[in-house]
Amino acid sequence: MKQIYVDHAATSPTHPDVITAMVKVMQSLPGNPSSVHHFGREARYALDTARHTLAQSIGAKDSELLMTSGGTESDNLALMGTALARQHEGKHIITTAIEHAAVLKTAKELERQGFELTYLPVSREGQVALSDIRDALRPDTILVSIMYGNNEVGTVQPIKKIGALLANHSATFHTDAVQAYGLEAMNVDDLQVDLLSTSAHKLNGPRGVGFLYVRAQTKLHELMYGGDQERKRRGGTENLPAIVGFAEAVKIAEETRAQKQQDYEGFKQIMIGALDVAGVDYEINGSWENSLSHILNIHFKHVSVEAFLVNLDMAGIAVSSGSACMAGSIEPSHVLVAMYGPETPALKASLRFSFGINLTKTAIEAVAAETVRIYKRLAK
Ligand SMILES: Cc1ncc(COP(=O)(O)O)c(C=O)c1O
Repeated sequence: MKQIYVDHAATSPTHPDVITAMVKVMQSLPGNPSSVHHFGREARYALDTARHTLAQSIGAKDSELLMTSGGTESDNLALMGTALARQHEGKHIITTAIEHAAVLKTAKELERQGFELTYLPVSREGQVALSDIRDALRPDTILVSIMYGNNEVGTVQPIKKIGALLANHSATFHTDAVQAYGLEAMNVDDLQVDLLSTSAHKLNGPRGVGFLYVRAQTKLHELMYGGDQERKRRGGTENLPAIVGFAEAVKIAEETRAQKQQDYEGFKQIMIGALDVAGVDYEINGSWENSLSHILNIHFKHVSVEAFLVNLDMAGIAVSSGSACMAGSIEPSHVLVAMYGPETPALKASLRFSFGINLTKTAIEAVAAETVRIYKRLAK
């Protein structure tokens, strides 16, 4: 049976050129970038070159990137690091109800430690309202953390407008751009963000590496104590093969961005077209206009998501319920609860299709046909 992977928002296959770049580092650069000898200098050069590529991709200075172990660490550092550094100025933090667990669980921990959190609501399409942010802001607000694009439903937030709104407030502005980075062009000055999280494995780079962009002069307390790496802000010998692989992935993402966006929008049309023709009773979760191009989350009415997922898996199609699946039971999505309320039937019947490299029009047509076939069987 041919397997079709339609879960690229969970993690994406590592690009062959990324693997080649990483193997080359492992084979030819044995030194530690902190060492002063020849081997160290060669490793340092590779690290600096990769950092430059990554910094350029968001219009940042090389010195403003802090390499991390991925999205989770970047988000933890953004929230915890800001809270620790600015707690004497205020204890109020604003975020949204639809953030990834890496932000939400850190926010909960900060609440436990005495910080006051405001979780902004979202519309039925998953967007925060600028007026809600304006109303929530207080003189003692030290941080606003709002994700760029949602990982479950794909809704993109008006980050540039939020940046402009916050320009006259002293709060640090963080965005979790983990799902959007690579696929969406972004510039930190244009967005007016102070902190921005990314992760390589969402854009065909290796797992376990990412960065936190930290605007110069932004107050941030370190969380990892050790050596003087990352300008003394994150100790630990740099994961050079992964960082070089990440930079390679970013180069490829920039070269292929326009084509990918066009392809994935086309894939969405194929999916929706097939459902419409077959008379499937469905609704799109999220926004059609303001959405990441690779994520399509659909509420299939009158079916159970567990049965749907299992049947798709048996047909060789890997998709996601859009939320963590633990010990065989599917946790209700906090994102859908925030969009529709706790009683919505969408909670038990929504699937996330997410697109990426290696997928063709023909493969998506097969996915659409199989989805329709299974829906018809289950909805009886
Ligand atoms: C929006 C968002 N933030 C953070 C993360 C965590 O990233 P990582 O898996 O690199 O720790 C993810 C990964 O699913 C994500 O989608």
